[in-house]
Amino acid sequence: MCGIVGYLGATNASDVLLTGLKRLEYRGYDSAGLATIHDGQLHVRRAVGPVDQLQESLTKSPVRGEIGIGHTRWATHGQPSEQNAHPHMDASGRIALVHNGVIENHSSIRNFLADEGIQFHSQTDTECLVQLIGFFYGRSGDLRESLELALQEVRGTFGIALVCSDHPETLFSARRGSPLLVGITAEGYVIASDPHAVVAHTSDVTYLEDDEVAVLSPAGLEATTIHSVAVEKRIEVLDLSLADVGLSGHANYMEKEIREQPESLREMMRGRLDVTNGRIVLGGLTEIERDLAHFQRVLLFGCGTAWHAALIGGYLFETLAGIPTTVQYASELRYRNPLIEENTLAVAMSQSGETADTLAALREVKLKGATCLGIVNTVGSSIALETDAGVYLHVGPEIGVASTKAFTAQVAVLTMMACDLGRRRRLSPEQTANVVHELATMPEKIAEALETEKQIQSLVADLSQHDNWLYLGRGVNFPVALEGALKLKEISYIHAEGLPAAEMKHGPIALIDKGMPVVVIAVQDHTYEKVLSNIEEVRSRKGRVIAIATQGDTQIGEVADEVIFVPPTIPALSPLVTTIPLQWLAYHTALHRGCNVDKPRNLAKSVTVE
Ligand code: M6R
Repeated sequence: MCGIVGYLGATNASDVLLTGLKRLEYRGYDSAGLATIHDGQLHVRRAVGPVDQLQESLTKSPVRGEIGIGHTRWATHGQPSEQNAHPHMDASGRIALVHNGVIENHSSIRNFLADEGIQFHSQTDTECLVQLIGFFYGRSGDLRESLELALQEVRGTFGIALVCSDHPETLFSARRGSPLLVGITAEGYVIASDPHAVVAHTSDVTYLEDDEVAVLSPAGLEATTIHSVAVEKRIEVLDLSLADVGLSGHANYMEKEIREQPESLREMMRGRLDVTNGRIVLGGLTEIERDLAHFQRVLLFGCGTAWHAALIGGYLFETLAGIPTTVQYASELRYRNPLIEENTLAVAMSQSGETADTLAALREVKLKGATCLGIVNTVGSSIALETDAGVYLHVGPEIGVASTKAFTAQVAVLTMMACDLGRRRRLSPEQTANVVHELATMPEKIAEALETEKQIQSLVADLSQHDNWLYLGRGVNFPVALEGALKLKEISYIHAEGLPAAEMKHGPIALIDKGMPVVVIAVQDHTYEKVLSNIEEVRSRKGRVIAIATQGDTQIGEVADEVIFVPPTIPALSPLVTTIPLQWLAYHTALHRGCNVDKPRNLAKSVTVE
């Protein structure tokens, strides 16, 4: 949540900052702002709404300078307004700060500073931090020391960039709990909360660790802890290209990412599926290889879409590997004082690797003795760094706020893990090879499932008139129903509920009236006959059934109003194909309703607040 960018170099800072902010906009788009230093003066511009608004204000009133900081906001403390937009300034007007994270003790800092006669201009927690830095600076005249002192005082999380008109060639930055990387260019530095804003300038980067400060100037990069202890930084090469973060001719990121799924899955499985020998090879698990046969429990956790993938994983770990598995919302797990039994494998699921609740749950179960794995997309993210081992999704950056390609990759990774653990326990070589072969066909099957798009487009004009939908599924496809409903809710603002099909008759059936869209996943597995009965129950109440069914099914057309066929596969892998039409359904419904699919209201891509 919130994107920050900073620049020190030889060209117009506001251009670099604006381009960077556009790349970070998926992290928040309530307001945007930037500050540069020119002729020894701070120049600040801020605007409510997306970065385009800021650009417009800069066109009318440009700023100059070759050093600056920028911010795109997802509001936490204080509503989206120009006053609350970053950068925020200290009382002297010489220091400007952008911040990603939450300062938890902001009230006590505010009260302390107010007693010292300092006036505040916003409701944000961030202003408390910059005012505190300014307060210390006013006393000591040493900015670096003041920054460190203030950071020692604050509780909570921060990724910050700071400039001061007294230091027109120095860019200050620091982090705790919110990601921050420094890109080293031929002429200077670009810092940002994620690599998307850096990749256009350099691939040489270094990542700040918690409680580190980086001071960047023509003299070089000087890193210390917030207690002034010098730190040696390692320069790494970014594994990201500009093409990865662009639209490559697509209308928006969600469309791009939905279409990328056959290829992203192929990439993710490359070298991990040994089709010849019918084996799974997950290099990321080598560190805990010897324990893999001995885990007696699995605990999967995550938030939102990642939690849905975890639910599918729970089903697969039990059916394929025969290991008792629990699946928890990370946000609940962290506060329930979980009982972690001996030989528990805990798996944190997160596309971004930065979700605050998932990170906190990870720390909790780690403390209680679980061996912790991460299934994460963002290389080098906090969850990836804090787990004992893990499997990267390697699907490239996911920028659309609605998670799509990360979901299918998470499900596929969990299938591979369940299969690998199963082989070490109860799966025969033949059973394992069967899953491996089927996994290898998934990119083609997903490509085929993507062809349902036209049929779905023809349905949405009618369907999108309805404000309430149900999604039903059973077994491994129940989480797919949840995921379908979440996709529809978050990008089209239609209310939708996902349910286990059989639960409908215990209450939600009362909602069904004439024409209400009920999307039912009705693939030919052991629950098929029961699902047909559930469809009949919907039809008796005049609901409109849209069935996702297996190609070749001749019965389903008799009971459903619309049938969307997906390629056949083994039941355990069916979520990988049944998910695809549900992604299209949400996408085209949202477009039909004129919604911005990449930037749905009130949301941001990675939720780094609790
Ligand atoms: O980055 P994470 O996978 O940890 O994010 C978890 C959720 O915030 C995320 O999946 C969210 O639910 C998506 N917007 C759903 O499309």
